[in-house]
Amino acid sequence: MRKILVTSALPYANGPIHLGHMVEHVQTDIWIRFQKARGNDVRGICADDAHGTPIMLRARKECIEPQELIDRIWQEHNADFVDFLVEYDNFYTTHSPENEAISSEIYLALKAAGDIETKTIEQAYDEAAGMFLPDRFIKGTCPNCKTDDQYGDNCESCGATYSPDELINPVSALSGEKPTTRETKHYFFKLGNHQAMLEKWIRSGTLQDGIANKISEWFEVGLKNWDISRDAPYFGFEIPDAPGKYFYVWLDAPIGYMASHKNYCDRVGEDYDSFWNENSKTELYHFIGKDIAYFHTLFWPAMLAGAGKRLPNGVYAHGFLTVDGTKMSKSRGTFIKARTYLKHLSPEYLRYYFAAKLGSGIDDIDLNLEDFTQRVNSDLVGKLVNIASRCSGFINKRFDSQLADTLFDPALFNEFTGGSESIAEKYEAREYSAAIRQIMAFADKANQFVDEHKPWVLIKEEGKLDEVQAVCTQGLNLYRILIAWLQPVLPKLAADSADFLNTDLTSFPNGSTEALLNHTINKFKPLMTRIEPESIKKMTEETKQDVAAEAEPTPTGPLADDPVNAEISFDDFARIDLRIAKIIKAEHVEGADELLQLTLDIGGETRNVFAGIKAAYDPADLEGKLTVMVANLAARKMRFGISEGMVLAAGPGGSELFVLSPDDGAKPGMRVK
Ligand code: MSP
Ligand code: ZN
Repeated sequence: MRKILVTSALPYANGPIHLGHMVEHVQTDIWIRFQKARGNDVRGICADDAHGTPIMLRARKECIEPQELIDRIWQEHNADFVDFLVEYDNFYTTHSPENEAISSEIYLALKAAGDIETKTIEQAYDEAAGMFLPDRFIKGTCPNCKTDDQYGDNCESCGATYSPDELINPVSALSGEKPTTRETKHYFFKLGNHQAMLEKWIRSGTLQDGIANKISEWFEVGLKNWDISRDAPYFGFEIPDAPGKYFYVWLDAPIGYMASHKNYCDRVGEDYDSFWNENSKTELYHFIGKDIAYFHTLFWPAMLAGAGKRLPNGVYAHGFLTVDGTKMSKSRGTFIKARTYLKHLSPEYLRYYFAAKLGSGIDDIDLNLEDFTQRVNSDLVGKLVNIASRCSGFINKRFDSQLADTLFDPALFNEFTGGSESIAEKYEAREYSAAIRQIMAFADKANQFVDEHKPWVLIKEEGKLDEVQAVCTQGLNLYRILIAWLQPVLPKLAADSADFLNTDLTSFPNGSTEALLNHTINKFKPLMTRIEPESIKKMTEETKQDVAAEAEPTPTGPLADDPVNAEISFDDFARIDLRIAKIIKAEHVEGADELLQLTLDIGGETRNVFAGIKAAYDPADLEGKLTVMVANLAARKMRFGISEGMVLAAGPGGSELFVLSPDDGAKPGMRVK
């Protein structure tokens, strides 16, 4: 029995799961379920990727702690996976004690091995926001084709890549100000130390050829040192012995695979260490999108090797999802969230459609909504489930739900079970589309068999009862094999079919699988219904509304809905109830990195407010002070309690925040106008 650990890439905790992500999770889940059905000892692991600048800024924008944001998103992601029947043994988060411990362990091992060096570099800095700017947060005119509003690392119009200082008229996406440059000490991983190992590893059957070829190009120019540190303020793990310096999110993200596995092992009492040891006899596979191959095929194996850990046996990249032939687009209503899909359609439709399109390569896959409807309706409802519904009625009604004691056509049954190995090989090789094609060819055969023997005609003929029972028994046995093959793709249909056939359908059939004979089945219930075009329309409509309703969770967000540039009416302004408030108590909040808890007096009424000003104020200095608060803001439930309003402060954030206070003479409760 093989011992296998399988992972999917860790989705960022700053936005919802969409159908593009689902390509990966469905691909991985099918492989895991297939391996389990074959009797292997398999664990599937995933987690949210909770660190980095976008997550920190999004939390700030929502005036909540990053922890609160990532907890909420984790709940959403987890529910999306559960409802899509994606069954990880552990779905965890990278912001965990296990991950912090293993990240330090690996970093210190690399350092001890001479793989880490420091260097002072110059980096773009936003003076107004008080922080260094990642390339993605700098925008300007492309130096190559002169298109405006391009990111600091590449141009979406001409595809050129460059460094942010080459941009024409660069501005910070946070403040809109021109960035300055500041010096800062960064920590680097000396990737070049591992070049020889990597050159061998990428050609050892671990990667798809296309990916291996692409990666080899990097060897020709020589591997550069990898910058693994970021300056505060940053949401992540502080580097041991380097106050104010944090691990770059991409350092601790893949280590999150180990940490999620560790958390699982501790929970269920399995051995983590023997899995990750240098000479481990177990197998490790990563399923990823082609955009993140570089991280998984260079940095990650080099980190593992440098820290004396085992290497992955396979890193498998897939292509990107397009919808109706083009990149998923918010305005066209094709940027479909997993949750929006689930409100209107069954998860198995999409699991089947993706399986029918996925191969082992990195080609993009297209979700054509018309083809999707047609394909699911004809394959699953028209062909597959139809076999069961045509045969079960007679068995239920005329034979007291009893199957015959012999098959009508044992050779045909053997032909089916004889096909199992070649179908299994296709699953194993991630050639799902080929597996589905073969299974559907068998489904055609099963339908032909029923068509040929027409139990609905036979039943009307004299003395043909036994034949009807044998024909239907044959049909249901063929159906059973088809479903057992499809179980990794359609787990719910398989479970419902197992109930109805009163049997177990969780293991993958092989040549010695016996037919169900002399066996009592249960009442047939409709197993699957057709996709109604109306449901697709509703999903697309709702997607357009989602987009209109939500602020974009990308670095362009802060500018896109910049309150300074959005005009409001006088009436809008008049609805804001601003009051003079006296801070009667200010205290630290246990477990909160950015918040202080304030008790405010607004003239005979006290309010509890959590304010993100911890880095700027010592609570003792605030007590007794007068300030201004928004008194009619809807109360918000936060992780630490309920916040009943907001105090006004100016500044970019972090330690540079200034609470507003009125001139002498103002009294608590006075209305500000
Ligand atoms: N957090 C990193 C991964 C860290 S793994 C140690 C990340 N997150 S992501 O949310 O942007 O993407 C997660 C996975 O979803 C990646 O494998 C990515 O390729 C995949 N996809 C995101 N959009 C996709 C499509 N439109 N189509 C197919 N896969 C896509 O990258
Ligand atoms: Zn350009």
